[in-house]
Amino acid sequence: MAPRSIPCRSPRRARIWPALEAQLERHRPSCIYLIPCFQNPSGACYSAEARSAIAALLDHYNVTLIEDEPYRSVALDVDHAMLPICAQLKRANWIYLGSFSKILWPGWRMGYLAASPALMPHLVRLKQAADLHTQRPGQHAVASWLQSTGRSADLERLKSGYRIRRDAMQAALQRHFGELADWEMPRGGLFFWLRLRALRATRAELDLALAHDIAFMPGEAFYPQQSDGQQCMRLNYSRATPAEMEVGLARLAGCLKQRAGPA
Ligand SMILES: Cc1ncc(COP(=O)(O)O)c(C=O)c1O
Repeated sequence: MAPRSIPCRSPRRARIWPALEAQLERHRPSCIYLIPCFQNPSGACYSAEARSAIAALLDHYNVTLIEDEPYRSVALDVDHAMLPICAQLKRANWIYLGSFSKILWPGWRMGYLAASPALMPHLVRLKQAADLHTQRPGQHAVASWLQSTGRSADLERLKSGYRIRRDAMQAALQRHFGELADWEMPRGGLFFWLRLRALRATRAELDLALAHDIAFMPGEAFYPQQSDGQQCMRLNYSRATPAEMEVGLARLAGCLKQRAGPA
C-alpha cells in the first residue's frame, strides 16, 4: 500500500482555534507555548489558515507567544510556506526558538532564539544568569556551518535520508501494526505517533519491549494528566535503518500481541 500523505488541512485539524479562543477567554494567560511545525510527539503541523487565525487571537488577547520550532528544517512534505506565527503578530510579544540539534550534532544541544525587542534585554539577563553563555566550540562549529556553501546540500542530504527512513517505517508499520494501531504518516519531524486500538496502557508494555531490545516513548509522558495518552506511543524514525525497523517493529508487534493473548 502506498504511504498516506496527510494534507495540512485535514478535516480533523481544520479548526483548532475556536477551542484555543475558549481557553484564552477562560484562563487569560500571559503567555502560550506552541509547536506549529511537526509537533513532538504528534507530528501535527498547523495550516496557513490556523497560523493566521492564532496570530489574530494572540494579538486580540495580548498573549505572549513562545513559538518552538526545532523541526522546521526537517520538513519532508509540506503544502504551504509554514510562515511562523510570530511573523504575523502585530501587537503581542513573542519568542521564537530554533535548534541545530535535529540537523547537526544532537549531543551539543545548540539552539537560538529571536524575540520581540521588548523582551530581548530580559532574555539576555536570564541567559547570563543561567550559564553566562553557550559553550564556544559548539558556537564556532555552528557558525562555520552556517557560513559554508554546502549548507543547503547538507540539509537536502539529511532530509532525503529521513524521508527514506520515514517511508520505511510507514511501510513496516502497515505490515505489522495494521491491526493493532492507528496513526497518520508524519510530513516532517522525527516521530510517528501511534494510538493502540485495544484499550491498554503502552507504559505497561515497555518493560517487555525493552527485554526484546526495543524502546519507545509511552504516550502518557506527553500529557499533564497521566490518564491521558495512555494508549499512545511515540516511535522515532531518524536513527534505525529500514532493516532494523523491520525487525524491531515485527518484534514490538509480537510483544503487544503476546500480552494481549489469544483473540
Ligand atoms: C519541541 C521541542 N523543543 C525543544 C527540544 C530540544 O531541542 P534541543 O535538542 O535543541 O535541546 C525538543 C527536543 O527534542 C523538542 O521536541
